[in-house]
Amino acid sequence: MDKIRIHGPCRLEGRVRASGAKNAVLPEMAATLLVDGPVTLRNVPVVRDVQTMVKVLGHLGRRQVTFEGDVLRLEGGAAGEPEAPYDLVRTMRASILVLGPLLARLGRARVSLPGGCAIGARPIDYHIDALRRMGATIAIEHGDVVATASRLKGAEIVFAERTVTGTENLMMAAVLAEGRTILKNCALEPEVADLARFLNACGARIEAEGTGRIVIDGVDRLRGTEHRVIPDRIETATFLIAAAATRGGITVERCDPTHLETVLDKLQECGVVLRVDGDTIRLEPNGPLRGVNITTRPYPDFPTDLQAQFMALMTRADGVSIVTETVFENRFLHVGELRRMGGRIVVDGQTAIVAGPAPLSGAPVMASDLRASACLIVAGLSAEGETVINRAYHIDRGYERVEIKFQALGARIERVGG
Ligand code: EPU
Repeated sequence: MDKIRIHGPCRLEGRVRASGAKNAVLPEMAATLLVDGPVTLRNVPVVRDVQTMVKVLGHLGRRQVTFEGDVLRLEGGAAGEPEAPYDLVRTMRASILVLGPLLARLGRARVSLPGGCAIGARPIDYHIDALRRMGATIAIEHGDVVATASRLKGAEIVFAERTVTGTENLMMAAVLAEGRTILKNCALEPEVADLARFLNACGARIEAEGTGRIVIDGVDRLRGTEHRVIPDRIETATFLIAAAATRGGITVERCDPTHLETVLDKLQECGVVLRVDGDTIRLEPNGPLRGVNITTRPYPDFPTDLQAQFMALMTRADGVSIVTETVFENRFLHVGELRRMGGRIVVDGQTAIVAGPAPLSGAPVMASDLRASACLIVAGLSAEGETVINRAYHIDRGYERVEIKFQALGARIERVGG
């Protein structure tokens, strides 16, 4: 099993290019099940979750998927097989994104029910309740979600809580449904908007104005198109946070600063200078790092997917910072590992209190999930001595060539096998 080895501390310097957004391309790949004709997706990150989705689509009968450079081409017919099996779904919860498209396209779907994961129970009840409101019959049988519908019918649906993949699944179900669907209290994440843009380019009729209300008028068919995936805001901010933690100066290119306003504000509050110029962000140190408080909430608030990385930064900052996680109930697994590296952190329920600055020292640590791995990279880069992150496969799910990109910024980081 691969590990990531880091020799710290270092000061990150240089330029790095943002990859395409994993959480935008995954629903877009699932959406191709709805489309007749070839689809080309550009700016696709080469990460393991994308490769898993290629396998899921292959299993569902997409005729040909080719992935060269950052271009993914899907040719041939739409869905043929309505079943997404456990072996694939258990490795990636986002496989649930095929439920809406399969049901809309084939009138039936059998998708293994994703279990809980390291960061929380993560039920999919909002997806199921909403699809039932569109006329689907849904049962849980032998660990699978089994859904049928002759043709889904437009409905008015109010999500009890904002859910990213729930909004995406319902949007995909509604594009081929009969009549108008109105979704309320939808997720506002840029990845949801990118999916709407992609579907509209295929001929869907979706009005998503960023207010949480999405109106979809069903059409009979969707045609192929070309689409450029938005840059990955979480990867972009991970580089910026790592640079801030190492007191370095970096430029992230080909990113979208407008997707990161809350995060950039927080970074400036803790003592860095940021210069935004079109699709680049330049970060430089500006005096000592100061502790600031963050609370994760759905977009446009501070993203849960950056909480762990930000906490690693806060161990380096002067004073006390309070980190509150409100999206997932168990997303503090990195705390124990940061403590092993010398972080002074106390957890009280959904709140972590970080006392800084702590002199971090390298240690062998264990990655528990994707973003926890990124947090340990941030910590390892600013710690004294060697850090070895076990279970590097977590990082490969969502960060493209992570060690190569950090090497280019001057980090002493490498992948080791075994
Ligand atoms: N929830 C329910 N029932 C549902 C759906 C959600 O109770 O039917 C709860 C969840 O348990 C959670 C909250 O609602 O407490 C929000 O979860 P959401 O549904 O928005 O999360 P998701 O769609 O499963 C996506 C991302 C995650 C990201 C979250 C929050 C994808 C493929 N995944 O997950 O990304 O953390 O939104 O922003 O888009 C990651 O990339 O590392 C990652 C975990």
